Amino acid sequence: MADGIVNMNEFQVLARQALPKMYYEFYAGGAEDEHTLKKNVQEFQRIILLPRVLVDVSSIALSTNILGYTISAPIMIAPTAMHKLAHPEGELATARAAAACNTIMTLSFSASCSVEEVAASCDAVRFFQLYVYRRRDIAVNLVQRAEKSGYKAIVLTADTPRLGRREADIKNKLIVPQLKNLEGLMSTEVVSDKGSKLEAYANETMDPSLCWRDIAWLKSITNLPILIKGILTREDAIKAMEVGAAGIIVSNHGARQLDYTPATISVLEEVVQAVGRRVPVLLDGGVRRGTDVFKALALGAQAVLVGRPVIYGLAAKGEEGVRKVMQMLKDELELTMALAGCPSVKDISRSHVRTDRDRLQ
Ligand code: FNR
Repeated sequence: MADGIVNMNEFQVLARQALPKMYYEFYAGGAEDEHTLKKNVQEFQRIILLPRVLVDVSSIALSTNILGYTISAPIMIAPTAMHKLAHPEGELATARAAAACNTIMTLSFSASCSVEEVAASCDAVRFFQLYVYRRRDIAVNLVQRAEKSGYKAIVLTADTPRLGRREADIKNKLIVPQLKNLEGLMSTEVVSDKGSKLEAYANETMDPSLCWRDIAWLKSITNLPILIKGILTREDAIKAMEVGAAGIIVSNHGARQLDYTPATISVLEEVVQAVGRRVPVLLDGGVRRGTDVFKALALGAQAVLVGRPVIYGLAAKGEEGVRKVMQMLKDELELTMALAGCPSVKDISRSHVRTDRDRLQ
């Protein structure tokens, strides 16, 4: 095991040491001023925990059910692109770690291993994250391949009509390797030698006309449940319900798309209230501690997803690093629950946290 490491943030330091500057900055960076990037973490820190004492916490149950699948803790793996830039085993190592931790991995559309390779490498419950390109046949191809390979849900990323402006990637002239899922379907080579090749490639390929009406089309090409990722407002949560989303992921894409969007934890409650328990609400963005997971659950999330922490674990120590990151978050959550007087996930309630909103009332 990664000896001597006591928290997730230490993995970020190891990842920085392990990776070439271009890749580290791609993983760690956010859009423009990185205001939202900082806020995603800081807004968790503004929430205070209100423990209950003299509760029997001799046994703590972390397991959670997501769309009918039982996972060992309410902490899942978010879709993040191109894991082979972090480690030669790429998504195969991440998937094996997900299986070992008994959690759900969401494979990115932009992965460096194919849906089939990842499916063959482990028996973790897997969701597939979809970007919709102008060439709609690509979405049809990938969704059907994911369904055939046993993925259990489609996570439609809705916040990327174009790529956010990531200035480190522009400076570093970030390259785009051939995306494995698109091999034989389209080349990901970009001719431009200016700025971020990822930005140039994404802006050529992403379909900026994708809209709510298209969810009916997506439903017509798959029987899998569809989660919509990138919801930040009550209005969009209601629209997602209207089009029949099976779940919502409150996300600002790890602050890599529109800067100055709110920290996800600060809008979670509004979305949860709009959804009213009709479908699960998940959250990602800035989750770095077990206490963060607890706070998200107290404000109504059914689970959280982690993006960068997984990549940092992978870059530092491969599969073992991802396992360790997930285990640390899980252990921290377990301790938080014990100290807060919550023997099971369903005991975590709104009354266990105090937010800025509460202070104003
Ligand atoms: C992402 N994210 C992302 N989202 C998505 O839907 N498809 C993708 O391919 C990617 N790729 C990606 C790469 C990298 C390097 C990062 C950091 C993020 C966003 C991701 O799913 C998630 O929303 C955030 O990572 C959550 O924030 P944290 O946990 O990184 O703070």
